[in-house]
Order: sequence, then structure tokens, then C-alpha cells
Amino acid sequence: MGVAGLSALELAQRRLGVAAPFLVEQDWGAYTAEQHGLWAELVRRRMPQLRESACREYLDGFELIGLQEDRLPDLLAVSARLEPKTGWRSTAVSGFLPADAFFEMLAARMFPTTTWLRGRESMEYTPEPDIFHDVFGHVPMHAHPVFADFLQAYGRVCAGVIGDPVALERMGRLFWFTVEFGLIRQDGEVKVYGSGLISSHGECSRVLAGGCEVRDFNLDEVLETVVDTGEMQPVLYAVESFEQIFEAAKAAEGRLG
Ligand SMILES: [Fe+2]
Repeated sequence: MGVAGLSALELAQRRLGVAAPFLVEQDWGAYTAEQHGLWAELVRRRMPQLRESACREYLDGFELIGLQEDRLPDLLAVSARLEPKTGWRSTAVSGFLPADAFFEMLAARMFPTTTWLRGRESMEYTPEPDIFHDVFGHVPMHAHPVFADFLQAYGRVCAGVIGDPVALERMGRLFWFTVEFGLIRQDGEVKVYGSGLISSHGECSRVLAGGCEVRDFNLDEVLETVVDTGEMQPVLYAVESFEQIFEAAKAAEGRLG
């Protein structure tokens, strides 16, 4: 319970408009031993590669938010560690959100987080995000102050063009090539920070093995690049720093007219 006896769910709902009906309580106690075991397998399968190839901000964030290898994350505990650092929370939602609700939450520094876990038959990939993709893949980056500011700025820009499908499509490409499949150059190497690479062993291995072209990040090019979400990526973009994508999110606003 928080302010005036309100639960975290009620407090979050009060801060939101269109997204409020999609918020749920995570029933952490309902996860089974089998599900905790599957989470452990998923994490242990990814960590050896990520210790080598994830950007340092991801690995720092993983520690900071207190993710455990052997059990599914409790989102309230994750948020309690994350919020003092960057103001972000990992907020449980019922599933896939409509665009206006999704961007409203990003603009409010609440990451819409699914609570279901994939089944054993989908270890490698799920078409819809689950808690492994959302928390293991996304949330550690939210502990980095510049990435945190970037993601909020991104949400604000998208919320401002919510009635313009062409502008939203272009902004969707920016999300895809940064938040989902972004790369960064560190210590003379290409490292991963996009959640789609962090959470997918096959896709990440292919990219690290040189299976796709890596270009320097270029906002105009990204906004023009049509994405086929069902295919492996032929081209991905590497930034030099996270300031670059924060500036890009702000600059994108001027390129949507
Ligand atoms: Fe994602």
C-alpha cells in the first residue's frame, strides 16, 4: 500500500487516462515451479553470450533491478529498485496495448509489462511479448539515465502524433531499430542493447556472427526503412552512444510533417 492506502495499481491508474483500464496486478504467487524453472532455463541460456556481447549499460541494469536467474521477477520489487534511479516503473498490463495507451505509459515512465510466460515449446520466440521479453529484454536498459530519457521522449513524440498513421509508422521504425534491435559500438566492438536481440538467442547469434549488415545509425534512413517483422533483419544500425538516440527521438518530431 502506498499513499493514503492506495495500492500500486490504483496509484498507477490515477496517473493515466486511456491506459488505465489495461493495468493489472501481477499475481506472482500464481507462477508454478515449472514456470520458475523455465525462466531459469531462459536466463541461463542467454547469459553467457550477453556477458560478452551485451552493452555494459544492460549488464549494469540487470544487476541494479535485481533480476534473479532462478525465479520470475516480481514487478513491484523491480520497480522499487528502478524508480529511485530513473523514475521508471515496470507496470503490469493485461496484454497487447493500443497505440495511444502504450505511448501514454511511456510518456509517464511506466513500461507496459506483460506477466504471462511463454511455454516450453516457444523457448526461442513468441509473436507476442511475454515477461521474459519485456523484463529480461527491456527493463534493464531503463536503469540507464539517458536511455530512460530517450524512451520517455519517444513516447511523448508518438503521443503527439497519435492521429497520424504515417507519422506513427515512421516512429515505429525508430523503435524497431533502437529499442528492439539496437546495436552500440563499445570498446571497438558491436554490442547489443535491443530487447529483441537480448531475449532471442538465435537472432542475436546470427547478428553477432556477421549475418546482417551493420550500418552507422542514421535517423533519416531509419525513418524510411520498411520493417518486415516476420523476417530476420538484413540491416541493423549501431550508435556510438545513447545520447545519439535521445537526440534522434527529439529530432524525429521535426521530421514527421
Ligand atoms: Fe519489445
